[in-house]
Amino acid sequence: MYTDRCMDHFRNPRNVGTIKNPDGVGRVGNPVCGDMMEIQIKVKDEVITDIKFRTFGCGAAIATSSMITELAKGKTIEEALKITRGDVADALEGLPPIKMHCSNLAADALHSAIQDYYKKKGIKIEPLRKKEADEHEHAAGI
Ligand code: FES
Repeated sequence: MYTDRCMDHFRNPRNVGTIKNPDGVGRVGNPVCGDMMEIQIKVKDEVITDIKFRTFGCGAAIATSSMITELAKGKTIEEALKITRGDVADALEGLPPIKMHCSNLAADALHSAIQDYYKKKGIKIEPLRKKEADEHEHAAGI
């Protein structure tokens, strides 16, 4: 049912724990099962230099949290924001369909930690998106 890679990340999860003075913290709960996950990040020059997680959840949630920390470490914030639950499942060489919802938790927790980082830096994500839209309209001559 689970791939060897998934079982490996479940049995030997990477980057478990917390970071002293994290730059961003994301906490999310899975409405389907009630499990919870927390991801903490340390950021330097827009690059995620350290990342840790704590998960109170099923084996798939632990494996997906472990994998997403590996995928995000060393990436820029912008690159990390593009990591999807599908990327996590692919990196684990697949998840049973009934467990796909567990990978939502990992992607949501990472994105939430990045949002917290932006908030702490005083950067609003909405205005950034609006600025991009305005620039797009301007380029299109609207
Ligand atoms: Fe809760 Fe997997 S069953 S996250």
